[in-house]
Formats: sequence, structure tokens, C-alpha cells
Amino acid sequence: MAADATLARLLASAPQLSVGILTADLGHLDDELRRLEHAGVAMIHTDVMDGVFCPMLSVGAPFVAAQRTAMLKDVHLMVDEPLEKIGPFVKAGADMITFAVESASNPHRVLRVLGDAANANDPARGILRGIAVSPGTPLEVVAPLVDELEYVMLLGIDPGWGGQAFAPGMAARVARVRELIAASGRSVLLGIDGGVTKANVAEVAGLGPDVVVTGSAIFDGTADVESNARMMRSRLVASAAS
Ligand code: DX5
Ligand code: ZN
Repeated sequence: MAADATLARLLASAPQLSVGILTADLGHLDDELRRLEHAGVAMIHTDVMDGVFCPMLSVGAPFVAAQRTAMLKDVHLMVDEPLEKIGPFVKAGADMITFAVESASNPHRVLRVLGDAANANDPARGILRGIAVSPGTPLEVVAPLVDELEYVMLLGIDPGWGGQAFAPGMAARVARVRELIAASGRSVLLGIDGGVTKANVAEVAGLGPDVVVTGSAIFDGTADVESNARMMRSRLVASAAS
């Protein structure tokens, strides 16, 4: 798969922070992206919500295209039936497309279509394919799909609503996904998204994810964005190493 180089780079440099951009000052998007780049952030996470799969309506492909950055564009689709809706995000330059496994009547087909997509930033690269799994979804949903993906993202909160507490039982969920990935014999990233804060990032890192998504902990209106990002990255890396 052409995305192998990106996958290998992320696995080798894990854990990585993927920063949720929706809580940024979107009127100064370029400035916010520079601040994250200066802090060494490698991935920018865009939460696409259609108001159907989850109650919020957020942004679409034009917003992803508007992001002028060398950071990997990590697109998280929370949209009803994503199969016919992924094209514009591919054209917008997504490097990773993750969709809610609960949102697709045929998630295997969505992954197959994504597997044939060329990366708009560099046709030689593919697009990393991911499924996002909500806290209430049994993890056996991953088993039949693990041979068609490069990323499994476990949600720590129910998709859409902000300000939720990190779900209990995530350690067991991470362990089960690790088992399923090991059984597949494939290189697959494991991510955690939602409800990660300055207070719990060390605990979350201790679960051993390759990617941690966080938004409001970075754009929280207290210290400046760059120092928040540096602090979250250093806590993530330090805790993972311990
Ligand atoms: C939730 C989204 C998450 C969330 C992360 O539906 O997928 O990416 O917005 O943001 P924080 O870190 O603010 O929980
Ligand atoms: Zn997300």
C-alpha cells in the first residue's frame, strides 16, 4: 500500500499528538497552524460532523483544503453513510481518513474504496485508512476489518458532544485492539480520541497508544497554544517511555 511510508514513520515516532483544530481560533487558522508546527506537532485532526450521525454540524472538505501545512491531515468523519462522501476529502489533501464504524452500512466497502485513493499532496503516497470506534461499540467489529485498514481509533467520548469525561474501561479496550492487530500480523496504528486533557494525558499515554487526539487541552484560552502543545507532547512522550 502506498501509505506504507507514512505508516512506518508514524509507528517509528509513536506516540504522536494529533491536534483537534476545531477548537482553534479559526479566524486566524494560519497563525494557529504555525504555532502547532513550531511546537513539533506532526498531525492536524479535523472533526467532520454532519448533524445526522452526530447532532453537531461542523466543517467539510473546503476547511481541510484550506489548511496550508506540512502536518499530516488527519480527517475524522462523523457522517452518515460515508461511502459516497469521501471523494472531496481525498481531493482536499487528507493524509488519513478515519470514519465512524457505526456510521457505515458496509464499512469494509468504505475501506476498500479508500485503499484505491491517491494522496492529493503526493500521488506516490496513499491515504491511511482508519475506523473510529465509540465507547459503547463492541470491539469485535474490528476483527473483520483489520486486514483493510492502517488505523484503529478508540473514542474516549461519545462522538459529537464536547466536554465529556474520558470513558472508563479504555485500558481493556486498548488491550483487546492490540490483540486483534497482533493476530492480523499487520502494521496498524492504534489511536485514542476525545476527553484527553492536561490532567489525564499521562494516564492515557500509559495505555500505549500510537496516536492521541486532543483539541480543547491545546486551545484552552490559558497559556499560548505553542506552550500547551509542547507540554502535551512532552507529557505524552515521557509517560509512554516510563
Ligand atoms: C469528538 C471528536 C474529538 C474531540 C477531541 O467527537 O472526535 O476529536 O473533538 O476534542 P477534545 O480534545 O476537546 O475532547
Ligand atoms: Zn476526532
